[in-house]
Amino acid sequence: MYRGSLITIEDLSTSQIEDVLDLAQEMEQNRDSFRGVASHALMANLFFEPSTRTRGSFESAMKRLGGDVVGTSDATSTSMTKGESLADTVRIWSSYADLMVIRHPWEGAARLASEYSDVPVINAGDGSHEHPTQTLLDLYTLRKEFGTLQGKKIVLCGDLKNGRTVHSLVYALLRFGAVIIFVPGEGLGLPDHVLHKIEADYQLPIQPIRHRGLEALYSRNRSGEEEEVDVIYMTPSYPHTLTLFDSMDLHMEKGESFALYATRRQGERESSVESDRPGAYPRIDSSILRMSDFSKAFVLHPLPRVDELSPSIDADPRSRYFQQARNGVPVRMSLIALMLGLYPWSKASRGDEGGPPRGASWDEPEVIVCDNPNCAATIESQNASHSFTIYQRPLIRLVCSYCERETIPSYFSYPFGEVYHPITDFPKERVDTGRFGFYRDTGTAQARGLRHPRRVTQEGQDAGE
Ligand code: NCD
Repeated sequence: MYRGSLITIEDLSTSQIEDVLDLAQEMEQNRDSFRGVASHALMANLFFEPSTRTRGSFESAMKRLGGDVVGTSDATSTSMTKGESLADTVRIWSSYADLMVIRHPWEGAARLASEYSDVPVINAGDGSHEHPTQTLLDLYTLRKEFGTLQGKKIVLCGDLKNGRTVHSLVYALLRFGAVIIFVPGEGLGLPDHVLHKIEADYQLPIQPIRHRGLEALYSRNRSGEEEEVDVIYMTPSYPHTLTLFDSMDLHMEKGESFALYATRRQGERESSVESDRPGAYPRIDSSILRMSDFSKAFVLHPLPRVDELSPSIDADPRSRYFQQARNGVPVRMSLIALMLGLYPWSKASRGDEGGPPRGASWDEPEVIVCDNPNCAATIESQNASHSFTIYQRPLIRLVCSYCERETIPSYFSYPFGEVYHPITDFPKERVDTGRFGFYRDTGTAQARGLRHPRRVTQEGQDAGE
């Protein structure tokens, strides 16, 4: 990966996120004094998926810093339609600019791009994987409202399965100690790989709660029944038991404010079967904001909206989404300036107290490849390294380093072992996974010279013949 790229929100340490937000605030307050600081610099904006806010605000940000922008906003106008690979396209564009911003429909495309770029790459959304710069402006907006995020309640509503903004935001909120409450559309809860990551990397339990107040968000499309919503308790000191749910009440009447972060159903990422059977979906309109439970709720949305956020609340003083979109400019100005080295990070090295520790890696593509058909490493396999990180908790799994989806191998072998075992027999205690072998099926294990345990025993006995 090109050093200094921003592919997932975990590429930034907590102090770096704070640096981005602090400088953004200065830039918002004194915009004119930053005019021209990037006058020598050129940014390549490569958008292979539709975009209004992200592309527009990156362009505006660069130009407000005095830099210039080249690029493409239409995949059909590039040589990719002639069969050129993403790797080659990126190689070329990176030789024309000092910084690259890429949005692409494949999960892991930004990571693949960073492996072929000569300049730092910023992920502006890669399939349903991540959208770290949206998270930065979401955090900026939340910080303006709350000051600190520690202990603050954020209700994430809508398409938590395919919404990339939500995935990046959850990981960041966990680091800042917020309490997250999930109110997903039916069948659109957080995917397993995100839940497992939260559990393994952040060691936080996810608890189902019943919450009558939040149930109102489904009221227009669900009849009478109570919706179960999930909550993550953020800090070890926070109550962990179901009996303490009263204290998890949103304290709406007591005047504690909280954020309602709505998202659009990501129809373009659904299979035709899923989109043919749309289920209940949380919506926010003026009748919701009139309820006393929501009197202190302020509303965010990454936009674009469809019908989950009614225009009837646009003029409501609790609506923050247009301001949130506007915050995209100072936040991206700040990020560009820091990534170009125009201002120093407050701590010298990236990655200090940054993302969670990683497990051992596994990169034997002939034995295991990523299961995700929309992963950049699957689609452009000739240019990808097919590496995985091995995790033992909460279950043994290989996490693709491009799309971060997990593959569960069917068999494993012990270090220097001669036989393969079903993955269900994998040691329960923590082991150094680096020397274990992992196999998709018996065929791949046998191709590695491994044998079925029973056959070895039989052969051992047969050896005396
Ligand atoms: C989001 C995106 O592209 O993921 N939009 C944005 O960048 N503001 C959200 C969405 O498309 O629903």
